[in-house]
Amino acid sequence: VDNNQLAHRLSALVGDAHVLTDPALKASYETDFTGRFTGRSRLVVRPADTEQVAGIVGLCRAEGIPLVPQGGNTGLVGASVPTGTEIVLSLGRLTEIGPVDEAARQVTVGAGVPLAEVQRRVRPYGLAFGVDLAARDSATIGGMIATNAGGERVVRYGTTRANVAGLEAVLPDGSVLSRLTGLPKDNTGYDLTGLLVGSEGTLAVLTRARLRLVPIQPRRVTALLALPSIEQAITALTAVRALESLELAEFFLPEGLSLVMAQTGLPAPFGAEYPVYLLVECAGRQDPTEELAEVLDDADILDMAVAVQASDRHRLAAYRDRHTESINAEGIPLKLDVTLPLDEVAGFVRDLPDLLPKRVRPILFGHLAEGNLHVNLLDVASSDEDAVSETVLRRVAAAGGSISAEHGIGRAKAHYLSLSRSPAEIAAMRAVKAALDPTGILSPGTLLP
Ligand code: MLT
Ligand code: ZN
Repeated sequence: VDNNQLAHRLSALVGDAHVLTDPALKASYETDFTGRFTGRSRLVVRPADTEQVAGIVGLCRAEGIPLVPQGGNTGLVGASVPTGTEIVLSLGRLTEIGPVDEAARQVTVGAGVPLAEVQRRVRPYGLAFGVDLAARDSATIGGMIATNAGGERVVRYGTTRANVAGLEAVLPDGSVLSRLTGLPKDNTGYDLTGLLVGSEGTLAVLTRARLRLVPIQPRRVTALLALPSIEQAITALTAVRALESLELAEFFLPEGLSLVMAQTGLPAPFGAEYPVYLLVECAGRQDPTEELAEVLDDADILDMAVAVQASDRHRLAAYRDRHTESINAEGIPLKLDVTLPLDEVAGFVRDLPDLLPKRVRPILFGHLAEGNLHVNLLDVASSDEDAVSETVLRRVAAAGGSISAEHGIGRAKAHYLSLSRSPAEIAAMRAVKAALDPTGILSPGTLLP
């Protein structure tokens, strides 16, 4: 089918207004927000519900048209950006939110609901979704599930996988899988929900999710610690991990802090610059300030800022949360997202500059509790990108780490997958892909090239 026929047939399913063929209207769906991944789509289609999604997928399957599901387009590995032959299937109109089940502490939401909207909706019940991340206003639940997003509260609540009780999804043959009862005990065969979480749009189009919720911890304290080294930051982290109230432990370095201050105009948090910064937050039913001070008593802390009021806490968190936008404002970064065993983190940070061409500016920050480092490299010549990625990722793999902590494999890391996965694992993944999507219409080129 040519594009006009395709647009016509899709319009019959979703309405004219929701099939975008004008290049100006398609543009925001064709480039990621860092500007690194950009491509063309045949068109963008915006279904309103699961039935329409099933109709679109069935049509694409019958006609052999590849498609790329897309949520808030905040992904960082190019998994939801088209490359030329695909249509973009935007889930942004699947925004229904069901009643909050207070007894089960669950809610069913459409794939297109932004994370911040879920939080707003469940807050009056004293509940929250356990996953939180800096892109909360745009990132959608479907995209977060497709990538098994991690973010800033993993130390307490786990990744998205741990917070999803069930899914509804459209398979490549147009059939609908629905497992939304959220039963906490349900041993009836393969865990299909678990399989689809983190599948990056390659196995199914996610349409609805049953989310687990956690009670809001009303009393909070946030502290920004200045430390003499990564080793001392890990010692401080080990101390605060004794607290059940620990909710967040994020690190950044002076180069990132300078960039954030220059880009945002935020004032310096301390009178001097320090080698490492660790942002920690504790939350509980009782004020956790005292227990935090107690466990940090022996830590080698050079300076510290503590905040209890929400506005002051957000001011401290901004030094960490505004890293991504500040880096983007400097140029298009080469973004690597790795995990290392904690006792390998300091050695990696020390060795990194020697692995890079001289003019490259590394900006590191991330989720220290998981050993998850966001390695953002500015000023990498495009001819050096592959070699630099491979050198750094090989160093990570040699240290027993993972080449993708939370952003996923997407297109960006697809040809490095074998650094983190064995031939037997990759063969098993290919077998699953072939079984569910035998003609390869879903997100071709992502994860398994
Ligand atoms: C974050 O931790 O802020 C996100 O993973 C985004 C990023 O890495 O830039
Ligand atoms: Zn992150």
